[in-house]
Amino acid sequence: TFVIGAACVDVLDRACVEECPVDCIYTGDRMAYIHPTECVDCGACEPVCPVEAISLAEDVAAGQEGFVTANAAFFDVALPGRDTPLGSPGGAAVVGDLGVDTPFVAEYRK
Ligand code: F3S
Ligand code: F3S
Repeated sequence: TFVIGAACVDVLDRACVEECPVDCIYTGDRMAYIHPTECVDCGACEPVCPVEAISLAEDVAAGQEGFVTANAAFFDVALPGRDTPLGSPGGAAVVGDLGVDTPFVAEYRK
């Protein structure tokens, strides 16, 4: 799967959201997150990010592994202020802008 890394934090350009053919890029507060199982690995999002925040999970830079976990945790763990995990909504348009991040991302210092 593709993942979004630290470079997105506090940039949240959203060019990738427009590009994804299956609408599996969800927007939080400081960054966006790729749904690990809804992503079909087409690669369309990767070149459009102006800060090169997107890569294959296996290609993330050393020290950035927390973002691989964060992309999955955004859906698997109840986000702050929510009782249940998002799970697999089947498209970001269904849930809109979530406006919240995983604790790891919320506390991340660039
Ligand atoms: Fe979407 Fe393809 Fe990227 S499915 S998240 S545009 S790899
Ligand atoms: Fe973030 Fe780049 Fe998308 S800054 S929202 S990963 S275009």
